[in-house]
Amino acid sequence: MTKKIKVKTPLVEMDGDEMTRIIWKMIKDKLILKNLDIELKYFDLGVKHRDDTDDKVTVDAAEAIKKYGVGVKCATITPDADRITEYKLKKAWPSPNGTIRSLLDGTVFRKPIMTNNILPAVRSWRKPIVIGRHAYGDVYKSQEILVEGPGKAELVFTGENGKTIRKEIHNFKGGGIVMGMHNTDKSIRSFAQACINYALSEKMDLWFGAKDTISKIYHARFKDIFGEEIAKHKDELAKAGVNYRYLLIDDAVAQIMKHEGGLLWACKNYDGDVFSDMLASGYGSLGMMTSVLVSPDGKFEYEAAHGTVRRHYYEHLKGNATSTNSVASIFAWAGGIKKRGALDGTQAVVDFANMLKKSVIDCIESGIVTKDLTNLVTPATKKYETTEGFIDQVALRVEKAMNM
Ligand SMILES: NC(=O)c1ccc[n+]([C@@H]2O[C@H](COP(=O)([O-])OP(=O)(O)OC[C@H]3O[C@@H](n4cnc5c(N)ncnc54)[C@H](O)[C@@H]3O)[C@@H](O)[C@H]2O)c1
Repeated sequence: MTKKIKVKTPLVEMDGDEMTRIIWKMIKDKLILKNLDIELKYFDLGVKHRDDTDDKVTVDAAEAIKKYGVGVKCATITPDADRITEYKLKKAWPSPNGTIRSLLDGTVFRKPIMTNNILPAVRSWRKPIVIGRHAYGDVYKSQEILVEGPGKAELVFTGENGKTIRKEIHNFKGGGIVMGMHNTDKSIRSFAQACINYALSEKMDLWFGAKDTISKIYHARFKDIFGEEIAKHKDELAKAGVNYRYLLIDDAVAQIMKHEGGLLWACKNYDGDVFSDMLASGYGSLGMMTSVLVSPDGKFEYEAAHGTVRRHYYEHLKGNATSTNSVASIFAWAGGIKKRGALDGTQAVVDFANMLKKSVIDCIESGIVTKDLTNLVTPATKKYETTEGFIDQVALRVEKAMNM
């Protein structure tokens, strides 16, 4: 029997919904608990349990991440009207990711998983490009007006001291549109700090792109706050060999398309939304994209970037075989375990996490894939594993490595 590797500090585990919940349990049983002596602080974020606890369980899970430092999360349903009926819920509970993100004041980083037989659509991308998306404000927390006829739109700020600043936006001669948006120094600073933490932890260069030549106050504020935070960490960044570059966003986009990768691209909220989807499809598949939430004070939550893969779950419920890609979920576990090991200073735990990732990559590179990857790998294949079959193949490689 394999001797289990001891993990010093508990890891926070958040269970989830539908097909990813099925995958999650398989990974936990076949890959994690078989090999690690680990205490998991378990929170069931399945939509029914969130409903039963009036979503208190999500807040408890976030508090546990604050306490223990590292968590791993399965994908969860963000309920809409259809889901309220389907799961007989009391109400449309907010997105657990949104709740955890705001409690940890965190930034989300998305990273593609690369193998040598899945070629990115962009030839020059040889290493991952990670997107750090500022997940607060701008167009996502804006107010809009549909202007129906002539009139003046103004921007007005009234200070608590009664002082008012007023600027004319536009004097309309006919119909049009107006939008007012905002951000806060605190949130921008947290974003910059989280990007610096991530760049330091991954030893990656950091780029930030905005349009301060046009937006001399709004975008320039982002640039300035980033610059201030970088200055505070100058020595640490230099020691880790991490370079920081501020670029105009159009320049950043042009350079990204010719870059070899291996960098963190910090994006404003809207840019991050758009460019993370561009990168996901450019690198291959949603099933191969990991996501980590990093707080400014260095707490980490790892998950797959995709959702609960609802369609496969309905097939699973009918008793049909499925072929769902578990790679991003396995990498979420591996990411959390590796970070736990690094924080605890336990090299064997870090090595296990690296070996787990390598076992997954080895499978794909030897043509063992789930259905979503059959046309992406070179050479393309018609043969694919079931959901469980793929995890079993990974488990075989892990077992072999553990016994070496
Ligand atoms: N991080 C999260 O927890 C998260 C993120 C997104 C969506 N969701 C939730 O997931 C549920 C389903 O949403 P959706 O269908 O829009 O998104 P989804 O990511 O589950 O699926 C989108 C598409 O990609 C495919 N896909 C995604 N992951 C795959 C995988 N691992 N293997 C094979 N194919 C895969 C699906 O079959 C589907 O065609 C929704 O209730 C939503 O609220 C959760």
